[in-house]
Amino acid sequence: QPIVTPAAGPPERPQIHKGLAGVVADETAVSRVNPDSNSLLYRGYPVQELAAQKSFEEVAYLLWYGELPGDKELAEFEVAERSLRRLDHSVRRVIDEIPTSADPMDVVRTAVSVIGANDLTTPDSSLEANRAKALRLFAQLPAIVAYDQRRRHGLELVEPRDDLGYSANFLYMTFGEVSELAVVEAFDVSMIMYAEHSFNASTFTARVITSTLSDLYSAVTGAIGALKGPLHGGANEAVMQIFDEIGLGDGAGERAALWLDDTLAHKRKVMGFGHRVYKHGDSRVPTMHAALLTLIEHYERPDLMVLYDALAAGMSERTGILPNLDYPSGPAYHLMGFDTATFTPIFVAARVTGWTAHVMEQLAANSLIRPLSFYTGTPERHLAPPDANE
Ligand code: ACO
Repeated sequence: QPIVTPAAGPPERPQIHKGLAGVVADETAVSRVNPDSNSLLYRGYPVQELAAQKSFEEVAYLLWYGELPGDKELAEFEVAERSLRRLDHSVRRVIDEIPTSADPMDVVRTAVSVIGANDLTTPDSSLEANRAKALRLFAQLPAIVAYDQRRRHGLELVEPRDDLGYSANFLYMTFGEVSELAVVEAFDVSMIMYAEHSFNASTFTARVITSTLSDLYSAVTGAIGALKGPLHGGANEAVMQIFDEIGLGDGAGERAALWLDDTLAHKRKVMGFGHRVYKHGDSRVPTMHAALLTLIEHYERPDLMVLYDALAAGMSERTGILPNLDYPSGPAYHLMGFDTATFTPIFVAARVTGWTAHVMEQLAANSLIRPLSFYTGTPERHLAPPDANE
């Protein structure tokens, strides 16, 4: 047999899945996103049914334990969550050291890091220890988010109230008064909608970090960094910025049309629209849209809806691209009184449930996540041989 030497030349370009689009990276039992049936299931339950009948605390329990809590489990879970709501002095001190002009997502990311550094159980990655860490973050993120909004307005921290549920207490710590039921319910629905969404960018980040056998707090800190970007969590803030740019009131519909023509002509993205997975509409939008409508009625703000509808209709006519969850949630948080810069930190407080469920799942059947890359740089070259005389 003659010896065949491979032809010299560049290696053949493999198929590259830019942005990992369409790649199934692993299996998960936490949630199912089905773009064909336009559905989202948490541990098998449609998210719409959970939003209509269950609290965010019950959904958090479901994501972490795989089943909804019974009465006894829920009562114990609520007692444990309420006992953890107060911020440690050191966390508060670090937040106070950060300028109020800082991006609130940087504040949240830093505070989570401090909580991790303070927790002596951080290296323990047993399921039990990770559930306890997840609960700690779940219980303390509202205090961090609420306090950061308040201090930007020169207001004092409001201590949590143990007699209020998660969402009522979150709003209470932010605004210093107990909100009306319609507002609490709409907020709770938004938290459930944002809780989990399979292998989105931030969750995948958390799984990548976990796959190195790093700790849960590191995974959440990294996930917050991924969520900060405007193509992911930052989009709900961008929606309100668009509304501000176009302006409410008389002629909003016409201004929205002109704004859209200009934006699309310049090939700029309209935030709050489009989705990597859903191509026929985001399954979470109808429920959040209904929550927004109750808030519009509650706050008597039909003017906001005029612009909201005009932009969505104009976008659909021009591009066929439909709103994602960030489109109704941005105006909803605005009506509740949250600063635009607080919207993505609220998303963190919700998504920490999904992130940590994925951390636990990743650890249960871990394999280091380490994809390949195709090299397109300078071909192999060599340094000149060292001068023997030197
Ligand atoms: N506005 C205008 N055009 C859009 C938009 C948009 N929001 N979304 C997609 N398109 C267009 C693109 O310009 C592109 O057009 P082209 O083929 O002529 O170049 C085409 O649709 C495909 O867009 P991609 O960005 O390649 O599609 P992808 O699946 O990667 O996009 C993404 C998903 C990143 C979410 C995109 O729709 C987007 O940038 N939306 C705005 C940001 C946003 O709202 N993010 C929130 C995501 S949901 C969440 O985090 C809860």
